[in-house]
Amino acid sequence: MAKKFHHPTFSKNFLRRITQIKSPDAMIEDAKSEGLEKTLGAWDLIVLGIGAIIGAGIFAIVGAAAAGANGAGPALAISMVIAAFACVFSALCYCEFATMIPVAGGAYTYTFATLGEFAAWMVGWVLLLEYAIGFIVVASAWSNHFVQFMRGFSSALPGWLANPPVWLVNDIGSATKTLVNDGIDPHTVIPTLHSLLPNLGIMHFIAVKLPVFAQPLVEHLSKAWNFMSQMPICLNIPAAIVIILSTMILIKGTKDSAKMTAIMVIIKIAVIALFVLVGLFYVKPANWVPFAPNGLSGIANGAFLIFFAYIGFDAIATVAEECKNPQRDLPIGIIGSLIAATAVYVLVALVMTGMYPTSGFVPAEFIKAPMAFVMSEIAHQDWVAGLISVGSLAGLTSVLLVMELAAIRVLYAMSRDNFIPKKLQLLHKKYHTPYVLTWLVGILSIIGVMTLDLQVAAELCNFGTFTSFIVVCVAVLILRHTDPDRQRPFKVPFSPWFPSIGILCCGGLMVYKLMQSGDSNSALLFPVWLGLGAIIYFNYGFRSNRKSENEIHLERIEQRKLELQK
Ligand code: ALA
Repeated sequence: MAKKFHHPTFSKNFLRRITQIKSPDAMIEDAKSEGLEKTLGAWDLIVLGIGAIIGAGIFAIVGAAAAGANGAGPALAISMVIAAFACVFSALCYCEFATMIPVAGGAYTYTFATLGEFAAWMVGWVLLLEYAIGFIVVASAWSNHFVQFMRGFSSALPGWLANPPVWLVNDIGSATKTLVNDGIDPHTVIPTLHSLLPNLGIMHFIAVKLPVFAQPLVEHLSKAWNFMSQMPICLNIPAAIVIILSTMILIKGTKDSAKMTAIMVIIKIAVIALFVLVGLFYVKPANWVPFAPNGLSGIANGAFLIFFAYIGFDAIATVAEECKNPQRDLPIGIIGSLIAATAVYVLVALVMTGMYPTSGFVPAEFIKAPMAFVMSEIAHQDWVAGLISVGSLAGLTSVLLVMELAAIRVLYAMSRDNFIPKKLQLLHKKYHTPYVLTWLVGILSIIGVMTLDLQVAAELCNFGTFTSFIVVCVAVLILRHTDPDRQRPFKVPFSPWFPSIGILCCGGLMVYKLMQSGDSNSALLFPVWLGLGAIIYFNYGFRSNRKSENEIHLERIEQRKLELQK
């Protein structure tokens, strides 16, 4: 019998369907039938958390947060505590969900259990901003640090390696900005496709071969080719290489990547400890005066900027399905890594601002790589500065691994729910990892790292994070109301107050950001991203979910018929 598919648009149950929730029990059952291995313990999770959290924020963004026209100055330590405070309420809500529904997908999964199908898709779509776009941002920061690191060997390395052409180590936007800042016309440096490719006379060849009636087509093709060939070409080679390496490591397995992350976490913590211990000898209390040169506004600005440094703890929840004992280990992993990161950040902020005066003018090097800069400029300890560069690379690499892992796990959960084609979910026969999705994320990220304007990408990443934090806090409140008797191995204390404070803190930061955005495009791009997500859902996810429901329904009828025949 031919299976009939009823067009969903005409369904009178449309609203009911897009708000259809997936029961947490069904999710846990689904996850049991999947092949993801349970290999992670509490210690792995703390390491994974610190691996995800400590990165570009402390090695780079801390400079802009402390100095500049509206910098926090030495009060950056207070900004850091405020940012941590904003995160901790959402972290507690993550813990409640992660222990109650320990399956892959994080905020995406929790939304499916509370707000339904459409909201879940949108949250998953927004989480891709946080993890996948964040991954691209950190890959670019890695590339910048790598270039700085190589410059340190300029006497030993060939010129092209120690000082590579700007178009080979940047995206188009950053390369243009760098050249303009240096007073160089970008057109004279950045090549076009036309200048890179040999002139093969393809259009002429096509024109000669095609009959006369097809000549208008050749003309159009020719115009399109002329337009495309004049486009500037920038290839961020170091970023592309590190993305490929991280993708290959993740395909080999989560446990292996957790081991790699552990090594890099040890290196970066050792380097930060070295900075603090050596730096203590060069702290001058006079540099802490004035403590807050730009008052409360500077502290708030610092808190907003440094919020990026805390992104990542939520990534732990996305690997819940691979934990040996999620109920006990997830809260330890999430809260433990958040506390450890805050302690490290506050120490670095106090030592750094005690070593170097941040209230006046600061050079660009301080903004780009503040720890290495003050160690070399104030302490004249170039060997410590060199080690800090190595530690930054290790730190950024571990953030890269966890960010990519989280993006893949969210997509994995989405493909399980028919939102993206099931074929992408295929697990590697030997390593049991979703290798098709992993390569897809890797390849799209390489395209992103070559084309995306980094500042806009970083801001979009923040928007994604605020939204997901808010949704998780809201979801805790909803599920407490709709399913109060469900077993909760970990409960957010003082609910509804704590989740509400989480919503207010993150919402406040988001509004602050929107008001501050000024000439930035991210405030415009965020709604565009949401709109694109809605279009994709109604054209693919909604349809394929109804199709799957129809198929299940028809299968049941067939089964029933067979049973009756017997
Ligand atoms: N928290 C991460 C970092 O600072 C995203 O790089």
